[in-house]
Amino acid sequence: MSEHILTICYLVASVTFILGLKMLSHPATARKGNLVAAAGMSVAIIGTIFLPQPDGTILHNYGWIFGGLLIGAVVGTLAAQKVKMTAMPEMVSLFNGMGGACAALISLVEFDHVSKELAADPSLDISHIQTKVLIIVLGLIIGSVSFAGSIIAWGKLNGKIKDFSFPGQNILNLVLLALALGAGAYLVIHPDHSLLFYGIFVLSLLYGVLFVMPIGGADMPVVISLLNSFTGVAAACGGFLYDNKVMLTGGILVGAAGTLLTILMCKAMNRSLKNVLIGSFGASNAAAASAGVAGHYKEVSLSDAAMLMSYANKVMVVPGYGLAVAQAQHTCHELEKILNEKGVEVKYAIHPVAGRMPGHMNVLLAEADVSYDKLLEMEEANDEFKTCDVVLVLGANDVVNPAAKTDPASPIYGMPILDVELAKNVIVNKRSMKPGYAGIENALFFQPKTSMLFGDAKKVLQELCNEIKSI
Ligand code: TAP
Repeated sequence: MSEHILTICYLVASVTFILGLKMLSHPATARKGNLVAAAGMSVAIIGTIFLPQPDGTILHNYGWIFGGLLIGAVVGTLAAQKVKMTAMPEMVSLFNGMGGACAALISLVEFDHVSKELAADPSLDISHIQTKVLIIVLGLIIGSVSFAGSIIAWGKLNGKIKDFSFPGQNILNLVLLALALGAGAYLVIHPDHSLLFYGIFVLSLLYGVLFVMPIGGADMPVVISLLNSFTGVAAACGGFLYDNKVMLTGGILVGAAGTLLTILMCKAMNRSLKNVLIGSFGASNAAAASAGVAGHYKEVSLSDAAMLMSYANKVMVVPGYGLAVAQAQHTCHELEKILNEKGVEVKYAIHPVAGRMPGHMNVLLAEADVSYDKLLEMEEANDEFKTCDVVLVLGANDVVNPAAKTDPASPIYGMPILDVELAKNVIVNKRSMKPGYAGIENALFFQPKTSMLFGDAKKVLQELCNEIKSI
């Protein structure tokens, strides 16, 4: 009877994962979705620990289990409470890497068990052992790549690791992957070659590092979502191995969601998935890309910018990473309300890779209660810019850089951008003329229609609000 209760727990958990994911697709319900899925996960964990497994066995080693849970819960809670909003993408990458590491550790432990079983009784059913080894090897390769890749992505997002590539790196990556897969296939056929298993582990870690190292410029969003899907698939391998339905469902859901996100990100960056898998695509060559951008930029005073917006019919705000750095989302919403009171229509143009994580700008603006129907996706916004009197670029840079359309040497060449220059006036707020994430100059800042409004986004927005109120 109690093993049926465990099955019901798993069913409840799986349903909450699906409902949670569905709710995550809208900012208004995302927070609740997270809690629903977390509640389901708690049910699954508590059930697994205390209820008998389908074969009637009960878990033991409670000291290790609760010790691990305690350490994980304390570290996770402190990290989540202390993390700055701007460091969230790095933390997500690190946590994703931990998921990959868990999957790889499961494989390491389970291979040891299989080896011991095989050594104790060589007459064991070999096909059963081979199936187990196949899943163990898949979990090891995918989990290790995800772990090593996510750690490099974490270092790149916080600026500690720089892009690194060398001639022939693509070929070396392919050779490493082929060697890991080939050795894995051999091990499945000959499961007693345990030394090979550790060789596959090292090859996979190396591939994970070398696969992410050269990816720079603005291509990180694709690799981050790809690593996310790897972790899901690796966890699903663990589910197969333990015949644990909820682990399988959870892993498949993460894998599928990550894969869909990867496809969306590829579309947003106009990159092919093939290039992502081989690695080192859109190789960043900032020096080459910045060549040719020159000229004078003009500045606009706060009062002129306020005047321009007050008398506009329509203002489009383009938020970028700088808005998150300044934590200016609430002040931005305040500006929107003040302009609305003056009869000015305000909308927001959201680029899919603006910020540092998928949906970053949506989350940021939702936090400030900006109405979701005011957010336009890139294609919609590009159709509307020509009807805008003013575009206010707030801490965005790469996502409005025309080099993506005009300069084949640019690391962001081919990435669809927000065509802000179609509007009558463009006001760009940032603190200096420094480049954005891709490290390249932006010709938009030197165009006749563009005026620079320098300063921290929050401070500038506060001053703009005051100015506009007094007009
Ligand atoms: P960026 O191109 O990174 O530009 C952000 C700009 O904000 C900078 O030029 C910076 O200029 C300005 N800024 C920083 N702090 C500011 C503040 N306090 N007040 C005002 N401005 C401030 O941002 P973006 O346009 O959002 O593009 C995102 C980039 O990140 C893309 O290249 C994308 O590929 C990459 N990326 C995205 C993701 C995801 S999944 N979204 C993940 C990894 C990488 P100043 O220093 O002069 O102020």
